Amino acid sequence: MTSSNPAEIGTGMYDVEAVRADFPILSRTMHDKPLAFLDSAASAQKPRQVIDAVSDVYEREYANVHRGLYQISEAVTARYEGTRDIIRDFIGAAHSHEIIFTRNATESINLIAYSFGRNFLKEGDEVVITELEHHANIVPWQMLRDEKGIVLKVAPITDDGELIMSAFEDLLGPKTKLVAVAQMSNVLGTILPIEDIIHRAHAVGAKVLIDGCQAVTHFPVDVQALGCDFYVFSGHKLYGPSGIGVLYGREELLNAMPPFMGGGDMISSVTFEKSTWAKLPHKFEAGTPAIAQAIGLGAAIEYVNGLGLDAIGAHEQDLLNYATQQLSSVDGLRIIGTAPNKASVISFMLDYAHPHDIATIIDRAGVAVRAGHHCAQPLMQRMDVPATTRASLGLYNNRADIDALVRALGEVQEFFG
Ligand code: ALA
Repeated sequence: MTSSNPAEIGTGMYDVEAVRADFPILSRTMHDKPLAFLDSAASAQKPRQVIDAVSDVYEREYANVHRGLYQISEAVTARYEGTRDIIRDFIGAAHSHEIIFTRNATESINLIAYSFGRNFLKEGDEVVITELEHHANIVPWQMLRDEKGIVLKVAPITDDGELIMSAFEDLLGPKTKLVAVAQMSNVLGTILPIEDIIHRAHAVGAKVLIDGCQAVTHFPVDVQALGCDFYVFSGHKLYGPSGIGVLYGREELLNAMPPFMGGGDMISSVTFEKSTWAKLPHKFEAGTPAIAQAIGLGAAIEYVNGLGLDAIGAHEQDLLNYATQQLSSVDGLRIIGTAPNKASVISFMLDYAHPHDIATIIDRAGVAVRAGHHCAQPLMQRMDVPATTRASLGLYNNRADIDALVRALGEVQEFFG
């Protein structure tokens, strides 16, 4: 870690300019304007430390893992497996073999639906989700419903974007076998009370899957303290490479679940008559994995750990407050998602322009945001909007980025008269 002095962190001296210097892309211009990157919830930029870690694998130490009896293969295997230990510590898992590498959080959820869902859920069993879920935590359950006849129940949210706990609890019962919820909404920024959700779900004997894709980038997570059964996230939103994701599952559950895919590296023995499975975690990792990407994710987590998630979260909350205040002064702007407990994602509507037009116009000012349904069409229907414009903040954003957004929205207003 070159950019930040951990001694300063936690004393209100988060040095965002030093952090920005670690991200080469942030010095680029867009349309001759400084880049104001406000789309980290879609995919975050990568620090030099991650780029270097990935390059180093390919330049010095690339070979397949778990297969070569030669030095490079053994070295890269140690780095790849070492990343599992880094992730174990990052989310407070009990064992490294409870960390399964996948392509992304979507694949992690599909793995659970395929392996746990198809084998442990039967017709009439219930899966409970919420109205604010990403498609990745809706569609796999619909596929399971259509195949197995399970029942999918959806817990409602308020107009502010908070989960209605009493209504959630009303959906729970002896038939509830799984509760699958996001820890943080990718659209509204709402942070869900997952401790309470897990407690109530376990009280009726249900297992709990937490989609931590958005949450892990903003605040510390401890899966053992939470007591969740599954926790998933993607590398690319956590300042790591794309193509690598994580599934955490409790050992006992993962041991009971059959493999998701068959192939090399996930077997113990194969004959034409029969195959037996490797132990965890390899049982769920068929084929050559995303080696450099996993190692890059390890570097990303070390980078985040070096800054400290508490310091990152405090910086982002300060910026969220500033952005909320500044955006509230823009004529005709309405924020979608006003839950008191939220992290640094701001969706909004302008009453005179469509989100796609807004995003296109402000791109000319160097401001990158996401516009659309954000892979959450049912949530758009719930909030009664066709789409939103979304500014999402990461550990490298500063007040100048927010000022650039607000200035650019002024240009949108001028354009639409
Ligand atoms: N899920 C990502 C987003 O919210 C892609 O933009």
